[in-house]
Amino acid sequence: MSTPARRIQPVPSFWRQPQRPAILQQIGNTPLLKLERVTAGLRRGVEVYAKAEWFNPGGSVKDRPALRMIEQAERRGELVPGKVIIDATSGNTGIGYALVGAAKGLRVALVMPENVTAERKQVARAYGADLIFSDPLEGADGAIRLVREIVAAHPERYYYPNQYDNPDNWLAHYHGTGMEIWQQTQGRVTHFLAGLGTSGTFMGVGRRLKELNPAVQVISVEPADELQVIEGLKHMETAIVPKIFDPSLKDDELRVEADAAWVMVRRLVREEGLFVGFSAGAAVHAALQVARGLDHGVVVTILPDGGAKYVSLGFFD
Ligand SMILES: Cc1ncc(COP(=O)(O)O)c(C=O)c1O
Repeated sequence: MSTPARRIQPVPSFWRQPQRPAILQQIGNTPLLKLERVTAGLRRGVEVYAKAEWFNPGGSVKDRPALRMIEQAERRGELVPGKVIIDATSGNTGIGYALVGAAKGLRVALVMPENVTAERKQVARAYGADLIFSDPLEGADGAIRLVREIVAAHPERYYYPNQYDNPDNWLAHYHGTGMEIWQQTQGRVTHFLAGLGTSGTFMGVGRRLKELNPAVQVISVEPADELQVIEGLKHMETAIVPKIFDPSLKDDELRVEADAAWVMVRRLVREEGLFVGFSAGAAVHAALQVARGLDHGVVVTILPDGGAKYVSLGFFD
């Protein structure tokens, strides 16, 4: 006996909007992990948590702003079929754009300093992005200058999200990362620290947490000086300052030496099982510095990416 065909319900027009591709629905909602061993010696009332952003499908925190900047540009009609998304990126935002571009069928071109790690270049290429290299000696700022020249020469060809000046960068964290931290700590967070690259993470999470509880202390983390290279982080005093950065938000700032960041990266992978990148080491180093000065508190920081992209640097040998 044949079973009657199941009646397919008509799709209400509300649901007929273009749906986000499945892989892009996996962006955000990352785990918040309690640090258990590197925290030895802290007072009993102090807890330190870190948000594991390499759980995003493109492997870093930057999937979040990449997705929001592209979707909002589509909504506003600025990113139309045929235009190429182009931006300056030290790697992770580029991988985010390349992931979103691949899933949505959009072309992506990335301007990056030639000396970013081979793994980053290859991952961006794997997603189908075109790479344009800027002078390695000029760092992230050289990539910003070059992308501006390229876009000025062919404005009709490109959509330039400009992650350094685009409010959708920090809004991705305001609506996503910040809210998640609030919920995952049941509103108990007392201190938040994040490294400054574009400052999107710091600004978005910081604004959201302060809105929810003005007593939350937000602390920025930067390399100790312009010679300390911590991939993903900027030394603001000597860099092109992103327009989205408002220093008046921060309650305090901490400077980290590159060596201290690496020591912490190695401790995190061996003592906690957290295989993270360089800026994550800097963030946890700074978070522990804050935590050591507290009797009670819930300190939260961000682990922006995983360690696999850095193995060619040889630090894990
Ligand atoms: C590894 C890494 N850490 C930290 C950051 C800083 O994040 P934000 O740009 O939100 O300040 C970035 C940004 O690209 C990054 O790639």
